[in-house]
Parts: sequence; structure tokens; C-alpha cells
Amino acid sequence: MKIAVLGTGYVGLSTGVCLSEIGHHVTCMDINEQKIQQLNQGISPIYEPGLEELLSLNMNAGRLNFTTSLSTGIAGAEIIIIAVGTPQADNGAADLTYLEQAAEDLAPYLVQGSIVVIKSTVPVGTNDRIKKLIESQTNFEIHMVSNPEFLRQGSAISDTLKADRIIIGSENKDAAEKVKAMYLPLNVPVILTSTKSAEMIKYASNAFLAMKISYINEIANLCEAFGADVEDVAKGMGMDKRIGEAFLKAGIGYGGSCFPKDVKALLHTASQIGLNFWLLKETIAINEFQRELLVKKAVKRFGDLQGLKIAMLGLAFKPETDDMREAPSIKLAEALSKLGADTIAYDPVATENAKKVIGETIKYANSIDKAISDADAVFIVTEWETVKQINLPDMLHKMKQPIIFDGRNCLSEENIKTCKKVEYYPVGKPAIIIV
Ligand code: UGA
Repeated sequence: MKIAVLGTGYVGLSTGVCLSEIGHHVTCMDINEQKIQQLNQGISPIYEPGLEELLSLNMNAGRLNFTTSLSTGIAGAEIIIIAVGTPQADNGAADLTYLEQAAEDLAPYLVQGSIVVIKSTVPVGTNDRIKKLIESQTNFEIHMVSNPEFLRQGSAISDTLKADRIIIGSENKDAAEKVKAMYLPLNVPVILTSTKSAEMIKYASNAFLAMKISYINEIANLCEAFGADVEDVAKGMGMDKRIGEAFLKAGIGYGGSCFPKDVKALLHTASQIGLNFWLLKETIAINEFQRELLVKKAVKRFGDLQGLKIAMLGLAFKPETDDMREAPSIKLAEALSKLGADTIAYDPVATENAKKVIGETIKYANSIDKAISDADAVFIVTEWETVKQINLPDMLHKMKQPIIFDGRNCLSEENIKTCKKVEYYPVGKPAIIIV
């Protein structure tokens, strides 16, 4: 099939690349000329494992093109996918400015019966609104399909190629079947719904996962107070198929460009009909509390952080990405700086992005060694593989005080227990103190 994708962010680019990988002819469009130029050279503007390889492969095979020209991209396209950002507006709602702009820009190039797919995360009712907006300009009917995305940053390619399910919501059966056919080579279960249900499935899923994280984080706080181990508790819970083991990793809270924004947007949707979605409010409140957990623990341990050297290992909101949006490291850095700590952070890929958000309130090191040397404590913020595999005796030897606050429970307790002198404070588990 010939497919056009508008928007080359995480979702648009991963979708375009994966659709070309399964044999379609894909043209990705973006208004950002610099991005398109980069992509035309086979360079990915985002850090995403495996993406650049598939990008070059499919470009060389002649199945993947990039352009700033909508007329070139849309000409002859059987399916047009919109994957532009829907960031958070000041009132918590999803800001649909980019989407509306995209729809207006597309309208002149559409034909009677064009199939327009919205992949961006949009509140219930948006597909209907966009259909009206486009049709007010075209004077002929087009078909909308809601096809929400469930890929995660850092594993975007495998999440797309090996998705759990594909949701296709449309009021037009033929359009839905066409989109279903586009995904056929993936051999993934497809659920056909109304557009509104498809839109709701996306928010309900993300908010549920965020709630699951906040739930286990609150259980972690209980475990810590009563001497239980949250990892054993999560394992015991997760083996119950009704609960499931995924997204029960306790830590310093969820971040990123999706969960924080989507939970707030769903809350906003609920408020529009006067519904107080308490569960979502608590999910957010618990997450806010978790983000400063390591600072609270350090204050409890040291009393005063003034002048102490704290090494923050990891800055990105999760491993395998350079994305700093809503990263817990931002709040941590702010709190540490307010308390007068001398903070030095290391991240293998997110440092440049972090500098733009956190600024000069903390220092940045270009290696783990430089960050930890002479540190009074280490804060583990992102569970990068290099952090997980760290040589513990070597690290503790280089620190001024052998104190670790692990916000991701990612160090091996077995290894910790072999250390001569250490204070290890995980989340929701008993501390290990060897003096
Ligand atoms: C999330 C969803 O998982 C995707 O299904 C969805 O498509 C995407 O949002 C989106 O709406 O675009 P993503 O934000 O990339 O994906 O990352 P996740 O792997 O879900 O992690 C989100 C946050 O939750 C991270 O900060 C992570 O550290 C945290 N997390 C995750 C936990 O604290 N505990 C867990 O058990 C799992």
C-alpha cells in the first residue's frame, strides 16, 4: 500500500519506519525542514534503539521517503496517518493546536473518500471534530479512523512490530477494513470499535498503567515502613493472571511524554462532565510524592544536605532514551539544589537535553567515574545498563562515603551484600547496612 504519515516524532517516525519494514511504500512528512533533511540522510533525529538501522534499510529499498511537501506525500496515498504531538495545555487538557493545523493543511490534498487515521493521542470526540473541520473545507466526505499507538520509547520498534493488539475505531466499515489490511503482515490481534471507544481505550490504558505504578509505589512505602520487600510482594501479586506482573516496578515515579500528560487529560475530560475521578487525582499525588523520595531519604540519613556531594546517576525519564520530559531527575535536581547540595549528574545520552531543562543548578559529568568520585552519596535515578553493571567495590572505593540511594531498585542485592562497607537504601525494601 502507499501510505502517508504526517509528523515525524516518536510515534510518526516509528510507525512510518515499521510500515515500510512490512512492505508498504511510506512517505513521512513534517514541516520541520531540518528534520526532513536529516532523515533524508538516514539520520534519526531521536535516540531510539534499532530505528536508524531500519530507517536506512527501508530507504535503500526505496520504500521510505521523507518530504516537507504535503502534495508530494499525499499524492496517491491510500491511507493518511496523522501522528503530530498533542501536548498538555495549561488547564491539563490535550492541546489540539498541532492536530487542527495538520488537518487544515491536509484538507486541500484530500479526495472524496480519503482515509485519514489519527494516531496521535486525542480526547474522546476528537475524530468527529477533525472530520467536521476537514469536511468544512473539502465539501466532500472523508473517512476517519482512530488508531491509537501503544509503543514505548526505548522499545518503539519491537512494540510496533510485536504489538499486543491493534485498535481500529471507525464509523466506516470499509475504512476500518483497509487499515486492518495495512497491519495484516504484523499478525497481531485487531479490535474493531467505534472511534470514540478507540480514543477512550488509549487514555484508559495509559491512565491504568500509571495508576498501577502509583499503586505499587504506595505499597512500596508501606513495605518499607513495615520491613516487607516490595519486589517479593509485586512478584506474588503479578503471578495472579488477573493482576499481571507488568508495571509493578516500584521506584521514583513515572515520567515521560505520555503518562503524566494523559492522566491529566483524562482527568480534564472527566471534569468536563462534573466527574471527580479521585483515582486519577491520587495517582498524580502519589507520583509527585515519589519523585522527591530520594531527597527525603537522604535528609533522613544525613540531617542536612548542605555542601554534600551527591552523584545523580541517570537523568532521562527511563533508560534507552534521551527524553527528559517529566523526568523525575528534574524535581530531584531542583530539591537538591534548594537544600544546598553539590550535585553532579551523569547520563549516557540525555545530558544535553537535561542541560536545557535543569540548567546550571547542578553540574554534569561525562563519565560515571567523574560523577561518583569523592561523592557523599549516589542517587540512582535511571536504570541504565551501565549503571546496573557498575563495579560496586570500585565505585564505593572512589566515593567519600559508601552510601547509595537506589531509586530504581536496580543494583543486585547479592553484590551489595558482598561489599565490605556500604549503606544501600532501595525503594520499598529493607536497607542493607554493612559497617
Ligand atoms: C507509555 C506506554 O507504556 C505506551 O504503551 C504508550 O504508547 C506511550 O506511553 C504513549 O502514550 O505514547 P512510555 O512513556 O514510552 O510509554 O514509557 P513506559 O515504559 O511506559 O514508562 C513510563 C514511565 O513509567 C517511566 O518513567 C518508567 O520509569 C515508569 N515505570 C514503568 C515505573 O516506574 N514502573 C514500572 O513498572 C513501569
